[in-house]
Amino acid sequence: MNINGQPHRAIWEKDETTIQIIDQRTLPHQLTIENLTSVKEAAKAIREMHIRGAPLIGATAAYGMYLAALKAPVNDFDTFILQAAKDLKSTRPTAVNLAYAVNKSLNALQKITQIDTKIETALAIAREVTEESVEQCKQIGLHGLKLIQQISTAKNGETVNLLTHCNAGWLACIDYGTATAPIYAAHQAGIDLHVWVDETRPRNQGARITAFELKEQGIPHTVIVDNLGGHLMQHKMVDLVIVGSDRTTRTGDVANKIGTYLKALAAFDNDVPFYVALPESTFDWNIRDGLKEIPIETRSSKEVKYIQGWHNNELHQVLLTPAESPAINYGFDVTPAKYITGLITERGVCQANETSILALYPERND
Ligand code: MRU
Repeated sequence: MNINGQPHRAIWEKDETTIQIIDQRTLPHQLTIENLTSVKEAAKAIREMHIRGAPLIGATAAYGMYLAALKAPVNDFDTFILQAAKDLKSTRPTAVNLAYAVNKSLNALQKITQIDTKIETALAIAREVTEESVEQCKQIGLHGLKLIQQISTAKNGETVNLLTHCNAGWLACIDYGTATAPIYAAHQAGIDLHVWVDETRPRNQGARITAFELKEQGIPHTVIVDNLGGHLMQHKMVDLVIVGSDRTTRTGDVANKIGTYLKALAAFDNDVPFYVALPESTFDWNIRDGLKEIPIETRSSKEVKYIQGWHNNELHQVLLTPAESPAINYGFDVTPAKYITGLITERGVCQANETSILALYPERND
């Protein structure tokens, strides 16, 4: 998608030894491009959230495996790669795309003996994970577009008001985004729409990144405090909620950015359709109970106690709470399937239950 009218992706290859990312910590104020030349740098970029969002975490990890393969000592190649996989997987626990991408690379490398071929394969897999995400997001956009079209028709072409939480946009993926792909497709199709953007404390991915994306694409939007959504829904100011996912069980429970569950409850109480957009790589086919089985990341309490902003061309942090007050920072929550109207996947829209999900993914019916 565009920045200053120029097409961009969230990750790309600069040359054979350098992967480039947009360091999202300085968005929307400054476009910072960062070089990744080792698995250590890739792991740091994921852990410290220079990049974030489930599909982009997966693609960055796959490129991390390639960088590891490039630098691995010939006499101890496999041990180095195994350690790299372990280090990458430990960076962020909730987004299952991370394990998906690392395991895909590891499994392929373990079947090969020649080092040159291992390196080529790691690169091929990183490219595959990346392109797969782009294509899946594009398809999610086309399937989600139909939902927005239906609402627009029912409203006789009046503005369709959507609400989204966090950033499940192209900067969380590689291109298009998951939750935002239907929005971009609908805007392109000429549908009159407007997006309520939850600021998404504590890291403000909505206020900083989703708002930036929508502004750059010329899509009408309004940034709101996280607690406004319920009020808007009670007053019929939201027609549709679309969010992303970091991990979805085979039964349709969804882990997404903290606060998603409360939006789902408010939507349920007010008969507002609540959809989750996700690619296949975000399903965890091994688990059934999201509340019991999805690991929830706990991040530093500093992210809650301090607030970050841009001043004099620099990022600044200021203390918000009494210095002595403890804070806790769970990064994600689980929305049980019963509150979800449907899942928008690259294969189509289904209900959030095992039968409906498996009808789209019959090969997972084991
Ligand atoms: O902590 P983050 O910024 O990585 O969390 C991102 C989200 O919660 C997104 O909604 C999710 O990864 C889906 S991205 C398409």
